[in-house]
Amino acid sequence: MARAVRIHAHGDPAAVLRIEDVSLPDPGPGQIRVRMRLAPINPADLNVIEGTYGRLPSLPATVGNEGVGEVVAGAWPAGTLVRPRDGLGTWCQELFADTARCTRLPDGLPDEQAAQLGVNPATAWAVLHEFGPLTAGDWVLCNAPASGVGRSLAAVCAARGLRLACLVRRDGEAPEGAMAVPEGREAAKALKALGAKLALNQVGGDSAVTLAKALAPQGALVTIGALARQPLSLPNGAVIFNELRCCGFWVSRWYERVQPAVVEGMMVELGGLVRSGKLHLPVAATYPLLETQRAVAHAQRPGRGGKILLACAG
Ligand SMILES: NC(=O)c1ccc[n+]([C@@H]2O[C@H](COP(=O)([O-])OP(=O)(O)OC[C@H]3O[C@@H](n4cnc5c(N)ncnc54)[C@H](OP(=O)(O)O)[C@@H]3O)[C@@H](O)[C@H]2O)c1
Repeated sequence: MARAVRIHAHGDPAAVLRIEDVSLPDPGPGQIRVRMRLAPINPADLNVIEGTYGRLPSLPATVGNEGVGEVVAGAWPAGTLVRPRDGLGTWCQELFADTARCTRLPDGLPDEQAAQLGVNPATAWAVLHEFGPLTAGDWVLCNAPASGVGRSLAAVCAARGLRLACLVRRDGEAPEGAMAVPEGREAAKALKALGAKLALNQVGGDSAVTLAKALAPQGALVTIGALARQPLSLPNGAVIFNELRCCGFWVSRWYERVQPAVVEGMMVELGGLVRSGKLHLPVAATYPLLETQRAVAHAQRPGRGGKILLACAG
């Protein structure tokens, strides 16, 4: 039996999260049993609990879309560090999975960073991979730059000599080395002077409109999030006269369609950035699994300054 954070219905996390014991089968060929170490609470997890995410598990289900765990039995050597892919439910002491649904993590990373590598850094990396080519010196735009995705984008851009300009709501929000442009009437004009061909939109609403207006002709506005919970409405002039390309991107689908070698290459590059200290995703607090309710309440608070993690043994 293993302790797990489960839902039997969608709704407010405070009402629907339960701690339960689940039994796990012994792994067969191509399967592994994973002892989870740390799992983050991401916006997507809250959307799954609420029932608003793009893909929902059949209920009852264990919650959690990523984390770092260690193989304890089955097809891969004991001790291998893995990231179970989404849908497997990582907020638990142990889980059971097909190896095809797990990604091996690079060795030598602090658990706090390894636990966060497969979603936010991967998304930043994959957007640059899919919506390039970009060359050193090119500008990239983004909003919500202090998010895990924003910090990761800054690190990958810096490593490739790309320049990042961020739409910010307050001082100190942009990662070190990135240009900060305060939200407001002058923001689109200031950003447009940079001639960027790619903008990463995590927010929607007015913030996305600013990025859309700021792109160079035929630039791509890539939407990955809707933090403002407002619709994405685009300025007609930018779409028509600037031939704006408006695209969505979802890393869950990307993992399904991309060749394993691309994922391996990405993990090597991201792992190197973590080891060299160039990519560091801050952690605001870590809670034992038994205190998931408190952890989720903390994760929902604005201005928390870093990710909330669950220590899966507890
Ligand atoms: N499509 C994909 O494949 C994919 C993959 C990964 C993430 N995402 C999405 O990307 C977004 C970021 O995820 P994350 O885990 O990196 O976030 P995170 O680390 O939890 O950080 C969220 C950040 O967004 C800021 N924020 C919240 N509401 C905002 C608003 N209305 N306007 C501007 N900034 C706002 C927060 O600022 P405060 O400090 O003020 O709270 C915080 O800095 C989410 O929408 C997530 O769902 C999508």
